Amino acid sequence: MDIRVTNQAEEIVACDALVVGAAHTKAGQESKGIVLSASAQAVDRLLGGLINEICAHGEFKGNLGELVTIHTMGKLTAKRIVLVGLGAQETVNPQALRRATATAARHLQHTGAQQIALALLWQGLEDTGIDEAAQAQIEGALLGLYSFKKYQHSDTNGNGQGVTKIKLLSGSVEQAALHMAIERGTAFAEATNFARDLVNEPPNVLTPTELANRANSMARQFGLECEIFDRPQMQELGMGGLLAVAQGSAEPPKFIILRYRGAPHNTDKGMALVGKGITFDTGGISLKPAERMHEMKGDMAGAAAVISAMQIIATLKPAINVTALVSSTENMPSGTAYRPGDILRIMNGKTIEIVNTDAEGRLVLADALSYATREGLSPIIDVATLTGGIVIALGSVMAGLFCNDEQLSNEIIAAGRAMGEKFWPMPLDDEYAEQIKSDVADIKQTGGRSASSVTAAKILEHFVGDAKWAHLDIAGTDFVDTKKAYQENGATGFAVRTLAELALRRG
Ligand code: BES
Ligand code: ZN
Ligand code: ZN
Repeated sequence: MDIRVTNQAEEIVACDALVVGAAHTKAGQESKGIVLSASAQAVDRLLGGLINEICAHGEFKGNLGELVTIHTMGKLTAKRIVLVGLGAQETVNPQALRRATATAARHLQHTGAQQIALALLWQGLEDTGIDEAAQAQIEGALLGLYSFKKYQHSDTNGNGQGVTKIKLLSGSVEQAALHMAIERGTAFAEATNFARDLVNEPPNVLTPTELANRANSMARQFGLECEIFDRPQMQELGMGGLLAVAQGSAEPPKFIILRYRGAPHNTDKGMALVGKGITFDTGGISLKPAERMHEMKGDMAGAAAVISAMQIIATLKPAINVTALVSSTENMPSGTAYRPGDILRIMNGKTIEIVNTDAEGRLVLADALSYATREGLSPIIDVATLTGGIVIALGSVMAGLFCNDEQLSNEIIAAGRAMGEKFWPMPLDDEYAEQIKSDVADIKQTGGRSASSVTAAKILEHFVGDAKWAHLDIAGTDFVDTKKAYQENGATGFAVRTLAELALRRG
């Protein structure tokens, strides 16, 4: 994608469509007034008041993501104007800009546009600089234009080559700030789309070996250190959780390590990002029902998120050390598979009594968390499609956030808010530990149906030592099966941007 800043005025910018924004006055007011952005006002003047006329007729109400297309009939160099709604004036924030831009870009892609121009949709946001607003727009455009069509013939995947060029109109804004916004927005969006590709890939293609290969080539391209452990190293380290889950699969497991050293002289080892990388979760001997099992190709979304966050970190280079750790395997039933009743020993020496082989995520994470702890990394943040329970609790709107440190928890929520990703704090109260007491091992693998997301987190807690730690359960947010205006169905790339933003804020 060719993205550049231009100081050309609305009148002369050459493109298939120019996108401008408008909000409405206070929500809930009797008659909503429309508030045009500076660029929308300029276009309105050039078109002899046409935009105001459309608003006066009630054809456009300014709701978030609402679109009106106007053909300019040669009055402007732009062939069309797309007016996009931003919602209530006082609620406009970077996420509204991200969504509005994504909606407009998707619409234009579907109607065959190739060159689009984006005006700064809204200026003068409270607490938000124009650079942050512009970054959100670039992210929105690139996230909105994403699709995963590589396994379809071109005649079944819609029209044309799609949008290839984006111009960002600087208006009266300093161009340097916008160049930075483009660099950051592109880094965030491309990495998110990389994660979406990894999750959308079918499980026959994206095996643990392929996941490791893609992490490795990304690392080479972006200058990260990469190390991949095979079975012998896992055996040497005593990674009993990862090895047990892997023993039912014909695909070899991989333990992937990516290292970024932005503060090489720092004695602090830095932060760990840990991902669950189950490339297909059948449930194993405790087999899942057939219905929706195919969605379990997405059970490596946590791994995809941490690998992709490392791509942003490597691009934008914060002064901080970050290590990503991914446990990757399939979870398959077979004659060699692990079984309910087995007792496993995790890398840190603790034993777990298996009761349901479908609760495999906590086992592979236990080894990765033990590894992070042994390396002295802190804080440790793990990301996993861990439990069906979190889908019941929070749906696809928010991810569950379990954290043993209030400040870290607040940091994650704030970074998420800036990136348009919502995290909701969940408890780690010790009374829940009752449910995972075992008669034969140190802990029992599952704590039954009640509070299943919490008991899963309580298992993980056994493997983080004294480190500050957060666990993000993204089982509900990693994948959407309903098309949202700004989001194709399929993988969302959830948590990529929040993790990177957190690292940048700490660096
Ligand atoms: N990968 C699943 C969790 C999941 C469910 C992700 C739905 C995305 C959508 C996980 O491995 C699992 O099967 N968890 C079980 C654990 C149970 C057997 C204790 C669950 O939460 O139902
Ligand atoms: Zn499972
Ligand atoms: Zn799973």
